Amino acid sequence: MANIELPVRDSFSSKLGVIAAAAGSAVGLGNIWRFPYVTGENGGGAFLLIYLCFVFAIGFPVMLAEFTIGRRAKRNALGSFKKLAPGKPWYLIGSMGIVAAFMILAFYSTIAGWTLEYLVQAFANGFEGKTSEQFTRSFEVFQSGSFRPLLWQLVFMFLTAFIIYKGVKNGIEKYTKVLMPLLVVLIIIICIRSLTLEGAKEGLDFLFRPDFSKIKLTVVLKALGQAAFSLSIGMGTLITYGSYIQRDNNLPVTALQVSLADTIIAILAGVMIFPAVFAFNINPAEGPGLVFIVLPNIFEQMAGGYFFAIIFFTLLAIAALTSTVSVLEVVVAYFSEELNMKRGKATIIAAVAISIVGMFATLSFGPLKNALIFGRTIFDWFDYLSANILLPLGAILIVIFVGWYLGKKKVRDELSNQGELKGSFVNVFMVIVKFIAPIAITLAFLYGLGLIS
Ligand code: TRP
Repeated sequence: MANIELPVRDSFSSKLGVIAAAAGSAVGLGNIWRFPYVTGENGGGAFLLIYLCFVFAIGFPVMLAEFTIGRRAKRNALGSFKKLAPGKPWYLIGSMGIVAAFMILAFYSTIAGWTLEYLVQAFANGFEGKTSEQFTRSFEVFQSGSFRPLLWQLVFMFLTAFIIYKGVKNGIEKYTKVLMPLLVVLIIIICIRSLTLEGAKEGLDFLFRPDFSKIKLTVVLKALGQAAFSLSIGMGTLITYGSYIQRDNNLPVTALQVSLADTIIAILAGVMIFPAVFAFNINPAEGPGLVFIVLPNIFEQMAGGYFFAIIFFTLLAIAALTSTVSVLEVVVAYFSEELNMKRGKATIIAAVAISIVGMFATLSFGPLKNALIFGRTIFDWFDYLSANILLPLGAILIVIFVGWYLGKKKVRDELSNQGELKGSFVNVFMVIVKFIAPIAITLAFLYGLGLIS
């Protein structure tokens, strides 16, 4: 379908707004829920080290590549490729991104729903007086149910759709600027409590002492997948957000700030969780429930834990919301710009379709627990396929597009704001996007999938 130039395109209003929105997308359940449990399942410190290498050597350049594409084209994730490469099949990267968006939001909204359940429990003082075993037990009972997890998932999808329906600028930009700093302060407070628990050292050792004997080759791909997931790269979220960034924004600086913020919050989440994991004798490889089991334990042991629990789960829900919004925006921008739907209609169709898919993810912890497909539940498949396959694949194609198709001149133009900034970074960036990133991601892929060893 032909691209139609929209009369006025929404955009972020300030530099801080761009950072808040992009960091709002990056910082979410990926940092506080997924990072600790994936690190726990994959051996701790050594995983962290590989993860950090991927974030800065690959993730940050891919983020910059996405911003470059988006700001240059000023279109949605699929339309951007059509505009920059008319008549070429590059737009298929965008199609893949739309599929990834469906899968990610489907399972992400399951966990986001859990945060609401825990928020309500925090209000109702539901954590008081429970033992570690009781926390584990009540989590298992909750997650294996149907009604409450589904209800919360739908509530969460509704909130996400509501914000997207209203447009991004006035909602997200305004709120994230206040809420993200607050989240950091709270995490630090909880970290301090966690670090002063007896036995905290064991948790820190687990997180920071790399034990390379624990590294299997598949771990490399999981670290890459986690880096891509956490930075929101590989599916066009940051192309879409990039298309709302003004001409005078210094893209490399913005991308670096967002990557740093994301990494710091993930590490803080690890410092918050692992000491408590060991202090309360919880298995670090507990899986997706890890945060929901460990945190209530900490709150129960904290002075003022009642209030901290409420504030924390509120912020966790908000961190999740600023991420789900960014995923839904990819689909809605695509529906409205490429399929010429009104924003409202696009939002409703996308949200309903994703919610239906998402219900299967939620039920994978309960009634569909034993509906295994090649050994994985539906939830696990969405998580695995999107993070470990689609995002890395998307990332490879995006850097190849920028490095080999878009080319140095246009990249320099975009990264130097048409020559206003120095752009000394461009040469290094080109080497990374042309060679280093595609080769490194391909290798991680082949090792991870066991195709080479
Ligand atoms: N990065 C977010 C988090 O860590 C999740 C997310 C938002 C995302 N947009 C994305 C992940 C796009 C992959 C791709 O919670």
